[in-house]
Amino acid sequence: MKYIAILGLGVVGCGTADLFTENAQAIAARLGEEVSVKYALDVRDMPDSPYADKIVHDIKVILDDPEISVVAELIGGVNPALEYTRACMEAGKSVVTSNKELVATHGAELLALAKEKGVYYLFEASTGGAIPVIHPLATDLAGNTVRSISGILNGTTNYILTRMFRSGASFEAALTEAQQKGYAERNPAADIEGIDACRKICILAATATGTLVDPDSVHTEGITAVRQSDVQLANRMGYTVKLLGRFVRQTGGTFVMVAPFLLPKDSPLSGIEDVFNGVLVDCNYAGDVMFYGRGAGSHPTASAVAADVLSILRGDAQRYEWTAGDDTLSTDFRLFSCRHYLSLRGVEQSAVGVIWSEAEILPGEGDEIALITPSITEQEYEDDLKRLCASGAQLQAHIRVFD
Ligand code: HSE
Repeated sequence: MKYIAILGLGVVGCGTADLFTENAQAIAARLGEEVSVKYALDVRDMPDSPYADKIVHDIKVILDDPEISVVAELIGGVNPALEYTRACMEAGKSVVTSNKELVATHGAELLALAKEKGVYYLFEASTGGAIPVIHPLATDLAGNTVRSISGILNGTTNYILTRMFRSGASFEAALTEAQQKGYAERNPAADIEGIDACRKICILAATATGTLVDPDSVHTEGITAVRQSDVQLANRMGYTVKLLGRFVRQTGGTFVMVAPFLLPKDSPLSGIEDVFNGVLVDCNYAGDVMFYGRGAGSHPTASAVAADVLSILRGDAQRYEWTAGDDTLSTDFRLFSCRHYLSLRGVEQSAVGVIWSEAEILPGEGDEIALITPSITEQEYEDDLKRLCASGAQLQAHIRVFD
């Protein structure tokens, strides 16, 4: 019998305990040995939980138990997750986690500690929920140079955008539904402001390159400024609107970003709806490789947690090594080039034509002029917009175009 411990009996913690209980026979048959959750650390007593008999409040119980070789850190956030993760590895225990904030901010340090202590730190559940993407990126695609990663990485915002696109639901109503379904973060600002997707694209870029970019240095926009009218206009013009985390190599440099994009409907990412996530990886030998599945929720995320636990128990876990703070991976965002959709008020079409003579003019909402610019850098976009605003234009909407 192998024993594991869970830190945090929340949505993912309960899902993980469910998985190891309900799938116990299949896991034992595959591993050749039974796996049992011995402890669940939580600040609450939770007498009504089916796992009440496993609850402990003191991490020392887990640290001091030699039967525990793998701990699943499913608390989320940096504190006390960082302290507990370090303590577990210091005590010779491997740690698996769904904690994208911790991996994106302290991943390099924790991977170094795992190596020093001869244990593992695995994080498949941190990005893409149920989707196996970290391990395949690090192993199956290891012979390639990754040219770009484009991901729908946040289930909550994809759910909201899908509801706005499909049924005309308001942003607020769709967010409430996502929260009720257990997809959203405790503070949904992390979802709707793009912060959660930012952490995940940093983790994917680090997995592909070995360099962890500081999430605070990444250009990050959420979906709060996306209007129902922009989503509907995009639809009529043959686009969907998706929040994307992107790692892109261009001639101007290498860029990491999170922002809403207009996605042509023939893009493989365009049909990814509701809570589903998708990651499109462009590799120099494999070409496009696509990963798809449920990006949030209790049982889907537990599936990825279990994958990491079992790889450690089987003895075939992957060891990752990251460098942190190397800013060569992320070039100044002002040099990034793409087309831009914008909607303006208080300006004549002729004035727009003076600035962007090759702009595609679209049927805007009411008295607004909507257009798509030619491909320009962020710096050029800012400068051009300033000129238009100086002559009275007011920006109503701005979404980049995914080419
Ligand atoms: N709030 C996250 C999401 C949970 O909506 O994708 C999974 O990381």
